[in-house]
Amino acid sequence: MLDWESLKNACLSCTDCQLCQTRTNVVFGVGSQNAEVLFIGEGPGEQEDLQGEPFVGRAGKLLDDMLAMIDLDRSKIYIANTVKCRPPKNRDPLPDEQAACLKWLNAQLELLQPKIIVCLGRISAMRFIKSDFRITKEHGQWFDYNGAKIMALYHPAALLRDPGKRPETFEDLIRLRDKIKEICDHTL
Ligand code: URA
Ligand code: SF4
Repeated sequence: MLDWESLKNACLSCTDCQLCQTRTNVVFGVGSQNAEVLFIGEGPGEQEDLQGEPFVGRAGKLLDDMLAMIDLDRSKIYIANTVKCRPPKNRDPLPDEQAACLKWLNAQLELLQPKIIVCLGRISAMRFIKSDFRITKEHGQWFDYNGAKIMALYHPAALLRDPGKRPETFEDLIRLRDKIKEICDHTL
């Protein structure tokens, strides 16, 4: 098993799918290497591609606000995406791109061994919870993932488009906080 540094170095030079041709930066992920909670978004957008960091644009600001509501911040968790390079014009990542990129996230999962995984949006939930995941019906529900607990929240970009979904998301965040208090040792 690679350590964090070797893994990151290998990942930063990855050319295993076509997204490498249009990216500015590989967005490896950020946060604590001891995190008990892993957030998985969809893929880098324009700002993320330019800065090499996940969730630093408008949706990222909202994600920070959502974390703050339950006393979390980026230093206490880890944040990554289903693909590490930006899909052109922010289109959905294609199944073969997600499949090619999965090894990197799997290696991060192996190093982290998170107790809780939070999928941000449908694309991530379909990859990590189940392929027929319905975000409108199943957000906020707990599922199992190799011994960890996993749930999906609406993607912050969806909450920017439709603020009407925010009250439900607040309830989901409370459920997340309760689960962290129940099963995590040092997150809250
Ligand atoms: N949206 C995502 O899914 N991930 C990011 O890193 C930024 C925006
Ligand atoms: Fe490699 Fe993933 Fe980037 Fe594709 S998206 S080039 S698999 S790091």
